[in-house]
Amino acid sequence: MGKQYYTITYGCQMNESDTERINGQLAELGYTEAPAMEAADIVILNTCSIRQNAEEKVYGKIGEIKRMKEKNPDLLVGIMGCMAQENKEKLIARMPIIDFVLGPYHIHDLKEVVTEALAGRRHVVRTRMNPERVKDYSELHAARKSHIFAWVPIMQGCNKFCTYCIVPYVRGRQTSRTVEDITGEVRQLAAEGYKEITLLGQNVNSYGLDFRDGTDFGALIRALDEVEGIERVRYMTSHPRDMTFAMVDAMAASPKVARHMHLPVQHGDNEMLRRMNRGYTIEHFMELLSYVRQKMPDIVVTTDLITGFPGETEEMHKATLRLLREAQFDSAYTFIYSPRQGTPAARMEDQIGDDVKHRRLQELMDVENEISLAKNRAMEGKVYPILVEGPTKQDESRWYGRTSGNKMIIFPKTEGVFVGDVRDALVEQGQTWVLKGRLV
Ligand code: 5AD
Ligand code: SF4
Repeated sequence: MGKQYYTITYGCQMNESDTERINGQLAELGYTEAPAMEAADIVILNTCSIRQNAEEKVYGKIGEIKRMKEKNPDLLVGIMGCMAQENKEKLIARMPIIDFVLGPYHIHDLKEVVTEALAGRRHVVRTRMNPERVKDYSELHAARKSHIFAWVPIMQGCNKFCTYCIVPYVRGRQTSRTVEDITGEVRQLAAEGYKEITLLGQNVNSYGLDFRDGTDFGALIRALDEVEGIERVRYMTSHPRDMTFAMVDAMAASPKVARHMHLPVQHGDNEMLRRMNRGYTIEHFMELLSYVRQKMPDIVVTTDLITGFPGETEEMHKATLRLLREAQFDSAYTFIYSPRQGTPAARMEDQIGDDVKHRRLQELMDVENEISLAKNRAMEGKVYPILVEGPTKQDESRWYGRTSGNKMIIFPKTEGVFVGDVRDALVEQGQTWVLKGRLV
């Protein structure tokens, strides 16, 4: 039997996308995907360092792989992604079963490194940040999971340096792909039958600013509007500091841009936002939000929140609770602040204790869950076009699709309905996380 690979992805959509390119490289070497880790000849962990618990999951997995390797010494083990960039040689020093460590700029090297490892060259570490590589991203063949939905990275890195965030250290300075390169990839995807693309960047609203020639996210949207065959364009993540009113206008004018915006606010208190180096105030955020909703009344807005940032008082925490009630997000991803070594916030005084963090997290979730539920209930009795994604994981007889606003509607499997179809769905029951209904 041929050689098999098994890749495990941690973290964000950018990593999901990178994994498809990693798998594409392995496919070019003749590997096929293994049905389970135990069957693999090569295991790659595409890692995340955004929070401590993401890193701990990876260390746990490496322990598991170590036992596999004791039984099968020929097994190749690679660590890629953000932890590779962050920890470099230290990973191999600590866990010599690792054969190679490749940072996010080195997917291009994978074929060479694997070939050499098979010939006996182990313990290769490559983590040089090389922005040039972003230019030839489209040369990396991607083994895409879906034939309908595709990730399209539009940039790499971030220049914002939020004081809690490790991303600028592990993904480097912002480097954008050109509009021509991106539209070329999207045209190719359309020709292959893809229906929906998701533009990926740590901060899509600063897309193109590194060219200093007037290119921005609005220009990219207008260029993508021209690509025939693609029905929906999604994008993530937005930044309230760099999102301009003109960009909102470009989205509102686009027939393709989905009515969903993931707009992380992080906190409801101005002093916290200042210490986080977010570069906006709550007043500005609310003004932007109301402009977004005025231009796109049906838009679904989701957010991220960090609780327990250093110096967060009870009053400041209450400001976030108030913000949630006021802003009425459709959903919020709430995270406990996790100190990241090397970031300014990790060195701040007044770190908050775990008990307080957990209690505050729960309070945020309680308030937001109520709002999410009310929002989804308000959709009951209405009809929404959905792009059909296929059967749910739990139950083959129940299928699901997503609205333009990225809400998931579950419906009974229906004769003559195929993955990738756009159908009208009637919402019968709104729950906190999903909607249930039927096709009409
Ligand atoms: N601790 C907790 N949450 C964090 N995030 C980023 N860095 C940290 C950290 N050190 C959250 C932010 C960001 C999301 C992707 O992860 O809310 O928007
Ligand atoms: Fe992190 Fe801020 Fe960049 Fe987002 S914009 S990835 S929070 S540094």
